[in-house]
Amino acid sequence: MKKKLTTVAFQGTPEQKEKLLAVIEKLKDQKGAMMPILQQAQDIYGYLPIEVQKIIAEKTGVSLEEIFGIASFYSMFKLNPDGKYAISVCLGTACYVKGSGDVLDEISKQLNVPIGSTSADGKYSVEATRCLGACGLAPVMTINGEVYGSLKKTDVKTILEKYQ
Ligand code: FES
Repeated sequence: MKKKLTTVAFQGTPEQKEKLLAVIEKLKDQKGAMMPILQQAQDIYGYLPIEVQKIIAEKTGVSLEEIFGIASFYSMFKLNPDGKYAISVCLGTACYVKGSGDVLDEISKQLNVPIGSTSADGKYSVEATRCLGACGLAPVMTINGEVYGSLKKTDVKTILEKYQ
């Protein structure tokens, strides 16, 4: 699934930048350094803002296009910060065959937040995830870690009302 960038403003602190520069300096000459650099950058910032990708590009000499390609391809990398309410719908096989794709579409529609994005006010983030390890409850989603199972598209409205 193609990830989208949101318009949520990037707010990084000087301390975060200092940590990032130290990580890059330590790893940049090692083979296969980009994955660990991106993982540690995400640990520092909670996601991989384009501003952070630009710093990594500048300091490693790898093109921003290539870095963005990696960050957007792998599901463990987040291009957007979690919303106040972080909604993750499982698209693993057990959930998908029971209609989690429809649930995800319905959530995106009701909140008007594209899948893989965070609303501009930072309130909601909506993403698809791999198996959450609760296949017996399929289809499953979590909102800030709270698990909802045996979901139907028609449940979405009632559940979202709890997160206004
Ligand atoms: S496939 Fe969804 S929890 Fe396992």
